[in-house]
Amino acid sequence: MGKEVRIGIVGLGRLGRHHAENLAWHVKGSALVSACSIVEQELAWAQDTFGIKALYRSYSEMLDNEKLDAVWIASSSSLHQAQIVEALDRGLHVFTEKPMGIDLRECRLIEEATARHPGTKFMVGFVRRFDPSYAYTKEMIGQGAIGTPFLVRSQTVDMDEYAAFQVKFVPSSGGIFLDMNIHDIDLARWFLCDEVASVYATGGSYVHPEFETVDDADNTAALLKFRKGGMAILSASRTAFHGHDTHTEVTGSKGILKIGLSPSRNRVEILDSTGIRTECVRDFYERFSEAFLAEAQDFIDCIITDKAPRMSAHDGTKATEVGFALTKSFRTGSIVSL
Ligand code: NAI
Repeated sequence: MGKEVRIGIVGLGRLGRHHAENLAWHVKGSALVSACSIVEQELAWAQDTFGIKALYRSYSEMLDNEKLDAVWIASSSSLHQAQIVEALDRGLHVFTEKPMGIDLRECRLIEEATARHPGTKFMVGFVRRFDPSYAYTKEMIGQGAIGTPFLVRSQTVDMDEYAAFQVKFVPSSGGIFLDMNIHDIDLARWFLCDEVASVYATGGSYVHPEFETVDDADNTAALLKFRKGGMAILSASRTAFHGHDTHTEVTGSKGILKIGLSPSRNRVEILDSTGIRTECVRDFYERFSEAFLAEAQDFIDCIITDKAPRMSAHDGTKATEVGFALTKSFRTGSIVSL
């Protein structure tokens, strides 16, 4: 392969457009050469913004016509599996957004495809692992800074103003556990170095009854028990008014690490007629933009230097397995064993 990795991106929506900007402008060694979306305005945006001429409404046509080294999948979650397998079977490296698949059959098909093509790189975008604070936490745990970790508390909280958008998104996203808590699940596995044995989840549509009509919730809470005895307490909310509020706490036998408990936009305190306050990050991209760039650079480096990506198809499967079990527990009211 030459110096640059030729990439075709599929999905230029809420997140895909940021990936495209990183790949076109900021990631060293990447050349964004083609784009695919079913939304005409997004393709026009890619042409105007990056000067890309190879624009497609059909993913298969993009793969047929372009000489690509890799694909970047940021399409709707329910499309990931077919797009991943098609690209791997054509010998292309694949980065995919989370969740890798929305059920275990999909994950199995992807793991089979990665096994068929051991020479191609594949990575699932668990972006929080690239956030400097989460990465530092992992390093500190490895150095024994908090003794043996046994409890992870982690939450993903989105602003209420996106809820209407998210109701429409549920059928293709797999629901709140697979769409939002999947990151917290991955972090808990990563920090505790263990797999989940059983889960219990509850929740409801406390603010937006529309979520009930799609068998989902706007706020949830879950308890996970790990095989070696560790625990995780996860929550998710789509109804915050202060901003995007993702934070995590890891408790060990000798201490506690808290990551991002105050989701402040910066270190400025505003003293005015309301008292003292800070502003909050508004969405996942504002919180994790640095991590998204580091993640993209890391995957391109893996391709160029023939290095194994940090997150494998197995990580994707395990997170989906837990997300699926949480969904089942929420819908049945029972503890689900894995
Ligand atoms: P979106 O709905 O804004 O965009 C979806 C994109 O998929 C659009 O560009 C659309 O044209 C494209 N698409 C849909 N059907 C297609 C088809 N048949 N062929 C080709 N393209 C098609 O969705 P959003 O929010 O950008 O999410 C995309 C993915 O990114 C999802 O899997 C989501 O879970 C993931 N995501 C990950 C986040 C993270 O924190 N890592 C945050 C937000 C989203």
